Amino acid sequence: MSDLLFGIDVGGSGIKGAIVDASIGNLSSDRYRIKTPQPATPEAVADTISKIVKHFEWEGPIGAALPGVVRRGIVSTAANIDKGWIGTDADHLLEEATGSPVRVLNDADAAGIAEMIYGAGAGAEGVVILLTFGTGIGSAMFHDGILIPNSELGHLEFKGMVAEHFAAARLVEREDMELEPWAIRVGEYLHHLERILTPDLFIFGGGISKRYDDFSHHFELRTPVRVAQLRNNAGIVGAALASRGITPAERSIDEERS
Ligand code: BGC
Repeated sequence: MSDLLFGIDVGGSGIKGAIVDASIGNLSSDRYRIKTPQPATPEAVADTISKIVKHFEWEGPIGAALPGVVRRGIVSTAANIDKGWIGTDADHLLEEATGSPVRVLNDADAAGIAEMIYGAGAGAEGVVILLTFGTGIGSAMFHDGILIPNSELGHLEFKGMVAEHFAAARLVEREDMELEPWAIRVGEYLHHLERILTPDLFIFGGGISKRYDDFSHHFELRTPVRVAQLRNNAGIVGAALASRGITPAERSIDEERS
């Protein structure tokens, strides 16, 4: 089987796609990005995705990461995307639009799969929680490499608020909050997560993780934290791996065998 896969990451401002080389866990082409259509209805996004697929002349399975709960292809929440996605059979819609088999999954779950196989979580056992701090807070939770999908820890109620309203990076990136008070909030949120879930490892992701060393001294945690490594590409890589059903747990069994 070829090591070349195809992944798409649907974000609030851009929809990005690339060919992924599964043997290295990274992109084997440039990323091609088209602005997310507004409103980002399922039909408009499907149309954009088909343009990206055509750009690469890609034929074969496609993985697509979407910012919402996705169960067996059906989207059931849409906190930061068009509400028209709720109830949509996204696998089917995108298969019709592209003519290829498509597997849609939550964007943070996709990023988590990539980080667990090729990035900060490689080889990590026990309970690992990856969080992506951006417009919202995405989460991916693993036990011994097995994904517990759609964990949505950004939607826990915390301090009387939806946690992502309390601590998403958007507060700093777009709403003028200073880094320090934001970091204190994030530290409190992470501490809450460690009290209720007892993780063995946190993986800290999202664009703001570039500045991790500027704010991590505000955290008081007993859980080790690693910064995500695949950065902007994690969603694309993880979606591509998911299109072939490649999971961290299976990857480590394969490695033990070889
Ligand atoms: C959504 C999640 C998504 C996260 C990051 C949240 O608002 O509910 O599904 O993973 O944003 O995009």
